[in-house]
Amino acid sequence: MAKESFFKPFYSVLVLAFVCSFLVSLASVGLRPLQESNRALERKKNILLAAGLLHGDTKDKDIDTLFAQVEPRIIDLATGAFVSPKVIDPKTFDQSASTNDPQLSQPLPKDKDIAGLRRLEKYSLVYLVMDKGKLKEIVLPIRGKGLWSTMYGYVALDSDLRTIDGLAFYEHGETPGLGGEIENPAWEAGWQGKKIYNDQGKVALKVAKGASKATGKAASYEVDGLSGATLTGNGVQRLFHFWFAGQGFKPFLERLRSEEGKNG
Ligand SMILES: Cc1cc2nc3c(=O)[nH]c(=O)nc-3n(C[C@H](O)[C@H](O)[C@H](O)COP(=O)(O)O)c2cc1C
Repeated sequence: MAKESFFKPFYSVLVLAFVCSFLVSLASVGLRPLQESNRALERKKNILLAAGLLHGDTKDKDIDTLFAQVEPRIIDLATGAFVSPKVIDPKTFDQSASTNDPQLSQPLPKDKDIAGLRRLEKYSLVYLVMDKGKLKEIVLPIRGKGLWSTMYGYVALDSDLRTIDGLAFYEHGETPGLGGEIENPAWEAGWQGKKIYNDQGKVALKVAKGASKATGKAASYEVDGLSGATLTGNGVQRLFHFWFAGQGFKPFLERLRSEEGKNG
């Protein structure tokens, strides 16, 4: 019987490892377009959900049709002005990646970073929901630290630009059953009709500890807390106070309000 080469098993393992890694990379590259289109679909669904335009029986194939009434735009957060799609294309802009780009974001000083973001991007996506050529709602991306994680969501504002139409958190690492209840549609429904700004234009929204006991006008600025998850609720309150004040969407909302006033 011919003697087996000492190196043969090593060659076989090497070839097998090479073939396997080639197949894995091929699958990863080949599946990338599918993963990207799934991510885009999820993003659209969450925006529609916040805007109250997604229903239990909505099929994936109908998402694009529903999304036709949503106009994604880019804004400059500091000035609140729209950025031309010729300068930055909202269809391809990666806001999340921009937070790591020193040209497109900057560090937040600790005393201003109440939502625990560390860096703030220069540009943000916003989504205008149109109805017969008129602004019906506006959906804004929000994020901020909870107890364990950064919580990502969308909030839809009514055309008065201060009343909440809907809220949808879609990504977080809070504890299921406790802080994780931020994605419970029943809790999110309690945000509908709440006002972000008071009559003086200050962010007045609060998340109560437990069920809200506020009455009268104060009730329109307060939502129920999450039982056993006050710390996550505090994080949600802080992220609203961050995103709707001057460093967040306030310059944009004020600019839009004065433009809408001129047009309407
Ligand atoms: C394993 C574990 C996970 C927890 N997860 C959360 C959470 O996701 N969010 C939260 O606010 N509190 C969480 N808590 C509870 C907090 O430590 C804290 O007790 C709570 O936020 C206080 O809220 P309460 O005053 O409404 O009880 C967790 C506690 C434990 C032991």
